[in-house]
Parts: sequence; structure tokens; C-alpha cells
Amino acid sequence: MDFVGKVALVTGGGSGIGRTACVAFAGYGAKVVVVDNVAAAAATAEIIHRTGRDALTVRTDVTKSVDVQAYVKATLDAYGRIDCFFNNAGIGSHREADR
Ligand SMILES: NC(=O)c1ccc[n+]([C@@H]2O[C@H](COP(=O)([O-])OP(=O)(O)OC[C@H]3O[C@@H](n4cnc5c(N)ncnc54)[C@H](O)[C@@H]3O)[C@@H](O)[C@H]2O)c1
Repeated sequence: MDFVGKVALVTGGGSGIGRTACVAFAGYGAKVVVVDNVAAAAATAEIIHRTGRDALTVRTDVTKSVDVQAYVKATLDAYGRIDCFFNNAGIGSHREADR
């Protein structure tokens, strides 16, 4: 796969599946936007930077629409485009099953 010249944005990129996806996108040549609500996003970007690839970290909460607009704007300001959007950060609600 060739993602050279492409911009890939991954929510929940600070750990787990999201981090793996970020590193994979970068390995295929993409510029990667690591979106997460924890500081670990910067560690993902650092892994990518050590390979000589470009990555941007955006600290944000994907449950807040104003934050979503902000990370899209930050990406467009930095790279001018978004080609791939991996909505990986899962938001759910949990409650005990009825007994
Ligand atoms: N790991 C599995 O076996 C598995 C199976 C099925 C589905 N999933 C789903 O895949 C996704 C990733 O799973 P994972 O195992 O890598 O999880 P993970 O907990 O390792 O990573 C999730 C990342 O999302 C970030 N995040 C959480 N809430 C956020 C928010 N509101 N705003 C921004 N970032 C937020 C966390 O900080 C974390 O870095 C989740 O949606 C999970 O439900 C995982």
C-alpha cells in the first residue's frame, strides 16, 4: 500500500489498536494525526517521528462536537487535507444488566 502524500487521522491513537494503526499508516507513507484525550498521543507521534515520518498530535475529547471541529481544523491548518479517517475511539454507555 502506498499512502505517500496522504493524511490519515486516527482517534484514540494514544494506545492499542489506534496506536498500531497510526504507526501502520506512517509506515505506508502517510502523515498521521494522532487524536486522543490522554498525553499518550504524544508518545505515538514520537514513535512515528523516530522513523522519520510526520505526525501531529491533537489532544481532544471525541465526545465533544466542539473538540471534533477543532481537530479537523487543526489537521487542515497543518496539512490541508484529510484522506483517511479512522474513528477508532469508541464511546459507549454501560449499565448493569437487569437482574
Ligand atoms: N481490543 C479489542 O479486542 C477490541 C474488540 C472490539 C472492539 N474494540 C474497540 O476498538 C477500539 C479501540 O480498542 P483498544 O483495545 O485499542 O482500546 P484502548 O483502550 O487501548 O485505546 C482506546 C484509546 O482511545 C482513547 N479515548 C477514549 N475515549 C476517548 C475520548 N473521549 N476522546 C479521545 N480519545 C479517547 C483512549 O485514551 C485510548 O488511547 C475501541 O472502540 C474498542 O471498543 C476493541
